[in-house]
Amino acid sequence: MDEKRKIVVTSALPYANGDIHLGHLVEYVQTDFWVRFQKLRGHECIYVCADDTHGTPVMIRARKEGIAPEDLIARMHAIHLKDFTDFQVAFDNYYTTNSPENKAFSEQVFAAMEKSGGITKKTSPQLYCEHCKMFLPDRFVKGTCPKCGAEGQYGDSCDHCGSTYGAEELVSPKCTTCGGTPVVRDSEHLYFELEPQHAYLEKWIPAHTTSDVSNKLLEWFAEPLRGWCISRDAPYFGFEIPGHKDKFFYVWVDAPIGYLASLKNWCERNGQKFEDWWQNPSVERYHFIGKDIIRFHCLFWPGMLHVAGFEQPNKIFVHGFLTVNGEKMSKSKGTFVNARTYLDNLPPEALRYYYAAKLGGTTDDMDLNLADFVQRVNSDLVGKITNIASRGGQMLQKRLEGRLGRLDEEGRALIQKCRDASETIAKFYEDRRFNQVIVEICRLADAANEYFDRREPWKTVKIDAETTRTTLTAALNAFRLIAIYLKPILPAYADKAMKLFGEAEWNWASLNETREACALGQYEYLASRIETAQVDAMIAAAKVKPGESGEVSHESRASKNKGKEGTDGDSGAPTPQPTDVPSLKAEIAFPDFEKLDLRVGVVESCEIVPKSSKLLKVVLDAGGLGKRTIFSGIRGAYPDPAALVGKEVVFVANLAPRKMSVGVSEGMILFAGTPGVGGGVVSPVSAAGAGAAVT
Ligand code: 2FM
Ligand code: ZN
Repeated sequence: MDEKRKIVVTSALPYANGDIHLGHLVEYVQTDFWVRFQKLRGHECIYVCADDTHGTPVMIRARKEGIAPEDLIARMHAIHLKDFTDFQVAFDNYYTTNSPENKAFSEQVFAAMEKSGGITKKTSPQLYCEHCKMFLPDRFVKGTCPKCGAEGQYGDSCDHCGSTYGAEELVSPKCTTCGGTPVVRDSEHLYFELEPQHAYLEKWIPAHTTSDVSNKLLEWFAEPLRGWCISRDAPYFGFEIPGHKDKFFYVWVDAPIGYLASLKNWCERNGQKFEDWWQNPSVERYHFIGKDIIRFHCLFWPGMLHVAGFEQPNKIFVHGFLTVNGEKMSKSKGTFVNARTYLDNLPPEALRYYYAAKLGGTTDDMDLNLADFVQRVNSDLVGKITNIASRGGQMLQKRLEGRLGRLDEEGRALIQKCRDASETIAKFYEDRRFNQVIVEICRLADAANEYFDRREPWKTVKIDAETTRTTLTAALNAFRLIAIYLKPILPAYADKAMKLFGEAEWNWASLNETREACALGQYEYLASRIETAQVDAMIAAAKVKPGESGEVSHESRASKNKGKEGTDGDSGAPTPQPTDVPSLKAEIAFPDFEKLDLRVGVVESCEIVPKSSKLLKVVLDAGGLGKRTIFSGIRGAYPDPAALVGKEVVFVANLAPRKMSVGVSEGMILFAGTPGVGGGVVSPVSAAGAGAAVT
């Protein structure tokens, strides 16, 4: 193992005016995996973050609520921190950008910018609302697109034709706060010129980002770099720019500086010096960010740090967006799920596990497929991994006085196999290929289960207690190593497992130990199955009905978005995926249910429908009703339709026949069962066919 490293890690600072949602969590959870892994390896790793508190949206919201912005951000800070804590995201410091440290650093950076000659001034026309008495940021004005004429477009770009423009170019602009018509007024602004750093940044970017990120950024380097507007007019919730009355730092100036401020605050509270961390070349510094905010972190931020004489981050780790069921998160579909709504319905471990299983350390978008989520958690985390401990632990306690014995040769081989994976797993963690960590862990769990089943302890326990004890000792020691590997991903789970083995602390070196000839603690429930009904309830709770407020005008990181004030948008469109999960439909009364005539039929034949990716043609022997042909949209779950032949299925016998492009469908089959065995996708129910899998 390498020498003890000192590492500073950050996640992007969430805006104080919005709730944490599952998209955000893609970032915080993966940063947390990485930080916890470094700590488990014995490194000194400090994870700092903060609420990003400044800007117009916070100011407007506080005004609407009739409170001071400081009160609003204090409330949001507490809510955010509770969400993160409940998701087991463990910051070393969760601070705020509205802090004295941040003000001081922002002023220091700005003074350096001025001193370097990098600040210029430019006057430009902007929209001003005389009623609200403020200049309107792009996302606070809507009007008709000057290029294509689409109505209701924001002040920076048109969702309809994709063109970008200045807000003052909008036709019939309206202030989104008061509905009034803004006027055009000139305002002078400060710009941070990046062209003087052209050569420096051109070299810096490829050395600190992956090639997909740097290739995109470097496209801009063919021409002189444009200056970046860093000031905003009063009224603005933020820091006033020294020497420039009524001008405030644009929120994106003091937001990344908030990383430094949070670290400094941590240092002050822990008897450390900021310089020993940020300014120390032997310390490593990493930012985890989403791909929508690359420009701020890989261009402006290194430019600011450079000019101000601060050390740079060693790498910027960029991840993609979250899609849910293959689509952009949507409030009307109930897939824009807040952290709290999730926690009200499902355990945090399930999401952490699933995200780990999907995250590969690239900028690709990640899909949370809700059916796959339920299936994977149940089959792998519960059925495969936890099963070793629950079967082994409970048998040892109930039948063998809870005492572990000694390993025999076969047991030692199993443990060695688990141990041999340690450097492979460590490398995957280091490279943020958490999906590969999970693959390795599942491979080891398969080996442990295979060993367990081969030794048949449920049989031997009746005749040979000591052989059984030997078997369970090996299975439980294998589980122990797996749980250590899982600790960064499932910290609370691993802590419970650690207690089972009567240990006080686990680190990477604990992998070299074996628990033999000692007592096992009381078996505590480690993880339980999750049900589709829980997911459905979550989606129902998250759903915003048409007309209700809550459509997102300012979506946040990790779902495809625009920045808060219309700032950035170099996002790729999420890749649609074929499967979807129906959310809870409107409740039906019993008389409605009674109308269904449900019968049992036997699948006589089942074949793929040419040119359809979803449909299977099923012919049922419907007993007294004769034969029924039903087109069912479950091909995704049954790549081999022959597997269905001979199965008994329940079908709706009195559904009116429906003419489809492929033929007439005479009913609907109700598929249900364990996902994953012969299929497992709960797909949307059409009048012709129905979802989920048969087992
Ligand atoms: O995109 C966002 O949600 C910003 N609040 C991220 C800021 S990250 C850093 F620069 F502070
Ligand atoms: Zn207004």
